[in-house]
Amino acid sequence: MIYPKTVYIHTIGCQMNVYDSERIAGGLMPLGYRQISEPESADLVILNTCAIREKAEQKVFSFLGRMAGLKRKNPELLIGVGGCVAQQEGRKILDRAPYLDVVFGTHAVSRLPALIHQVETTGGRLVDVALSNTIQESPADTISVNPDQISRFVTIMQGCDNYCTYCVVPHVRGREMSRSPDRILSEIKTLAESGIREVTLLGQNVNSYGTKEGLCDFSELLTRVNGIDGLLRIRFTTSHPKDLSDDLITCFNRLDKLCRHIHLPVQSGSTRILSRMNRKYTRDTYLDKIDRLRSACPDIAITTDIIVGFPGETSVDFEKTLSLIRQVSYDGLFAFMYSDRPNAPAARFSEKISEAEKAERLQQVLGLQEILTLEKNQSLIHSVQTVLVEGVSPRMHASEVGHEAVPQWYGRTPGHKIIHFPEPERLSTTGNIGRLKKIHIEKAFSHSLWGRPVSQEE
Ligand code: 5AD
Ligand code: SF4
Repeated sequence: MIYPKTVYIHTIGCQMNVYDSERIAGGLMPLGYRQISEPESADLVILNTCAIREKAEQKVFSFLGRMAGLKRKNPELLIGVGGCVAQQEGRKILDRAPYLDVVFGTHAVSRLPALIHQVETTGGRLVDVALSNTIQESPADTISVNPDQISRFVTIMQGCDNYCTYCVVPHVRGREMSRSPDRILSEIKTLAESGIREVTLLGQNVNSYGTKEGLCDFSELLTRVNGIDGLLRIRFTTSHPKDLSDDLITCFNRLDKLCRHIHLPVQSGSTRILSRMNRKYTRDTYLDKIDRLRSACPDIAITTDIIVGFPGETSVDFEKTLSLIRQVSYDGLFAFMYSDRPNAPAARFSEKISEAEKAERLQQVLGLQEILTLEKNQSLIHSVQTVLVEGVSPRMHASEVGHEAVPQWYGRTPGHKIIHFPEPERLSTTGNIGRLKKIHIEKAFSHSLWGRPVSQEE
């Protein structure tokens, strides 16, 4: 196939957008588009947007401003905007950005090639932000894998029915819908045959996968993915604490490819705030799930999301978040300052917290976690960890970690921690990348570990 045209795809936001951008790239190939990594010489620029927090949304218009400059130099350039901001704003974005050619919503990814084809042939400006009640699949033959990729995201469900009061997702991604297990399995088989060794199954609430449609449940889906030849590791994100079943917990012991890591967003340590957030669990029921996870699987890594400064969050509520973080002792966390989102009910809640107070609380959460992460990492010194090798460390020089003048490689543990290790270059000819390797940990830093391989190959 000859690709006479080029597309630059810019992705803002979550892993689901990364997955959709891969679908966009694959879907445009039959139209003759090849992906490039800079927008300057592109024939088509696609911006895949995120509306989850105010900051993400601000990035959209600053990027579009830059693209307007490119279009002035090259009036033939086509520009499309997709994702959650496109869904939220619809046709209004065309007024705000008169140089845009296509606006496509969160359910229109599979229709984008037809939209682009139409603009190329007949011109005009098109908007497709229809939300449907069935999953819009891309054709199976548009899956493409980059030769140096070993890890991929696979969306297993879209939308969300939980209506947390701060969240825009149910409004921009629609109702929860699960993909068929057969489609998911055949996609992962194709990926594994093309060299992918690790998949992360994605959804807003993966542990309710299939229940609404009466498909197989999430544990059964994981069991079937575990049987795929060539695949070495399975991850998933995100889980809602209210739907974390004992059955899923047993999977961490039962399935050899499933990484012992769970991302279990708590958002707040105060039951009062959790109730205002409509999270449907309490501090105690959350902590009970953590106990169950740790009793079944003591070495499981647990990470979380925290929102600071939710409307009405007092200093007593915030202290409860800090104490929960200490009690669970997370392996890592993402913390965000609450921001009002259009359509989300909390935007109308009173007792808003000032930006300065939110920033102060954010720093406290991040500072506490920094200490906990370092402690966790230090506790791994002298242990043996298995990494899936990702590549040669671009920034780590031998002098930073010791005396070895040999390349430093890196990979991740099942708990998603980065480990750097030295290995003579000649070994790379056997293809280090994409292999599992056992590493004896000798040093711990706040964001990574360092060790030496204990054997040549697993
Ligand atoms: N403000 C701040 N953080 C938010 N998140 C979702 N909505 C908001 C909001 N309005 C965070 C939650 C969620 C993560 C993906 O983004 O912590 O788990
Ligand atoms: Fe948003 Fe809550 Fe659904 Fe997550 S579970 S996407 S936070 S509504």
